[in-house]
Amino acid sequence: MDRRRILLASGAALALGLSSAGSVRAEGAPGASFTQYADPQDSFTLKVPANWGFGEGELSGNASFSGASGGRRTLAWFPENVNPRDVNVTITITNVSVEFTKLGSFGTPFTFASNLVNSQDRSYMLRGPEWARRNEPVMVAKLLDAGEVSNKYFLEYTLQKVPDEPKRHLYTAVALGYNGTYNRLYSITAQSLEELKPQYEATLVAMVKSLSVPPTKF
Ligand SMILES: *[C@@H]1O[C@H](CO)[C@@H](O)[C@H](O)[C@H]1NC(C)=O
Ligand SMILES: *[C@@H]1O[C@H](CO)[C@@H](O)[C@H](O)[C@H]1NC(C)=O
Ligand SMILES: *[C@@H]1O[C@H](CO)[C@@H](O)[C@H](O)[C@H]1NC(C)=O
Ligand SMILES: *[C@@H]1O[C@H](CO)[C@@H](O)[C@H](O)[C@H]1NC(C)=O
Repeated sequence: MDRRRILLASGAALALGLSSAGSVRAEGAPGASFTQYADPQDSFTLKVPANWGFGEGELSGNASFSGASGGRRTLAWFPENVNPRDVNVTITITNVSVEFTKLGSFGTPFTFASNLVNSQDRSYMLRGPEWARRNEPVMVAKLLDAGEVSNKYFLEYTLQKVPDEPKRHLYTAVALGYNGTYNRLYSITAQSLEELKPQYEATLVAMVKSLSVPPTKF
């Protein structure tokens, strides 16, 4: 898998559609007690608020997305009483080619973050003539922060489909780890509507930072 495909794979996690219903009611959101999720198959751990729901992409019945044959998995968590499209945390685990043994293979944290965000940004369309847009909504992606902490790359950014959709605030971390058989790329994205950020930011950041993967081998 080359770098571009990995970037797309991370972005694609946003497109996972678990069935969802309900309106925005953010009661009992943050401050909840965390439990530790330990994944038997890919050996990562993650802190998750005790009362959040959970779903795995492969169980959603959409093999074309989860690529059951592709060694790719997607797992998602979301708070109760809130539409999962408004607040969710999604982790995608994919194959990496053997030469990717260090995060440095993806460039610096800033290069990696810029590539990931730019791969989604179409804001240049807004600067062009209106007819060129054909009334299609335009995705605007903005990188806010990028860095590296204990072998994970972090980035914070916003996404908004202009003019149709409200702005979303996202936190992503990526790490490489050895799952017992292969090196794998772990990519976690936590997101909420910008307007829900005051309620959820602390929880989302804590979850993303809590991701722990086994060290790489080779
Ligand atoms: C799987 O997802 C793709 C892309 O979102 C969609 O086009 C397709 O209809 C879905 N298939 C099923 C069986 O839901
Ligand atoms: C994932 O990686 C393993 C080891 O390199 C390989 O055997 C497997 O076929 C790969 N799967 C895909 C879909 O690339
Ligand atoms: C997470 O939120 C995004 C943005 O609304 C949405 O596209 C995606 O389907 C959601 N993921 C899940 C698992 O609900
Ligand atoms: C490791 O990843 C591979 C896919 O690359 C998967 O088939 C396997 O179940 C995972 N876990 C272990 C313990 O090998």
